[in-house]
Amino acid sequence: MLKLPGLIDPHVHVREPGATHKEDWDTATSAALAGGFTTILAMPNTTPPIFDRDTLDLGLASAKSKARCDYAHFLGAGPNNANWDEHPDIPPRAAGLKMYLDSTFGELRLDDMTLWMEHFINFPKHLPIVLHAESRTMAAAILMADIYDRPIHIAHISLKEEILVIKAAKERGIKVTCEVAPHHLILCDSCHLSLGREGRSEVRPRLTTQADVDALWDNLDVIDVFATDHAPHTLEEKDSDNSPPGFPGLETALPLLLTEVDNGRLSIEDIIAKMYINPKKIFNIPEQKETWIEVDENATYEIRAAEQFTKCGWTPFEGTQVKGRVTRVVLRGQDVYKDGKVLAEKGFGLNIRESK
Ligand code: NCD
Ligand code: ZN
Repeated sequence: MLKLPGLIDPHVHVREPGATHKEDWDTATSAALAGGFTTILAMPNTTPPIFDRDTLDLGLASAKSKARCDYAHFLGAGPNNANWDEHPDIPPRAAGLKMYLDSTFGELRLDDMTLWMEHFINFPKHLPIVLHAESRTMAAAILMADIYDRPIHIAHISLKEEILVIKAAKERGIKVTCEVAPHHLILCDSCHLSLGREGRSEVRPRLTTQADVDALWDNLDVIDVFATDHAPHTLEEKDSDNSPPGFPGLETALPLLLTEVDNGRLSIEDIIAKMYINPKKIFNIPEQKETWIEVDENATYEIRAAEQFTKCGWTPFEGTQVKGRVTRVVLRGQDVYKDGKVLAEKGFGLNIRESK
């Protein structure tokens, strides 16, 4: 038995409000616990998007009544809400600010760089800003972090050029951190062949070439965080003509990464650093007392969507052989998951930005 800290996933699409047929606060946090995560940070591209006081209250109300693990919620950067200085009480209640600079699922996207500048100036410097920024957009965002001398975190990087630019920026002392999703480490752009229908491989950022995947593995030390980008859509939606991008990931991340430990490509220390120590520091997450997870590192089995808690009903890793199973999760002294059963009640989860 292996004992690890309660893991942190800073990139989860909970889908409530607005798309609870895909996921909600109950199923997302059940999936989190089953995956070994005791804290999740929720993304704001819901319907409506979470971007001001009223919508943050709305998102947090569902979380408060249903969450089974701890959480915080991101605010989304829009064209009309960069006046954070006029509402100083709002940002500290959120996980941080999420800026969508490239196109993806949902309405939030900022093209105009003068809007980026306003958010960079007005959002409090000590609170996290996370960017969906790919390729050259990412380089522009890093320049802006340098200009305004503030930390930024780049979500789900996937390309060789991205990891190499981040490496160079870090070497120059620019305050940039980054995350990689397990699917970008394990799948490549020819994988849709094994995923079945074409729509099932739709994800943003897209799956990449093997050379990009190799570059991520070659620069593991540049990757600060493994984040799932859990982005559930139903199988019916994925197999439709207009497949929305996104993969579920909460329940597969740790088993897949433990399998890479078994393959000798990762160490347990890498997992602890990138799924606990670093996200805790970057996102300013408080210590959870008496909290840990237990893993049977020798359990060998195949991933099955039918055994998962996510509502979406599928996984791109169906049938993948993995080694390592979460057997028990203890959160604040209480058994919250054991042997395949979620034991935490709805509402047991705390908003980490509110609890002292
Ligand atoms: C995400 C979603 O479905 O909300 N989709 C995705 O492919 N990753 C949006 C996002 O994280 O960009
Ligand atoms: Zn995402």
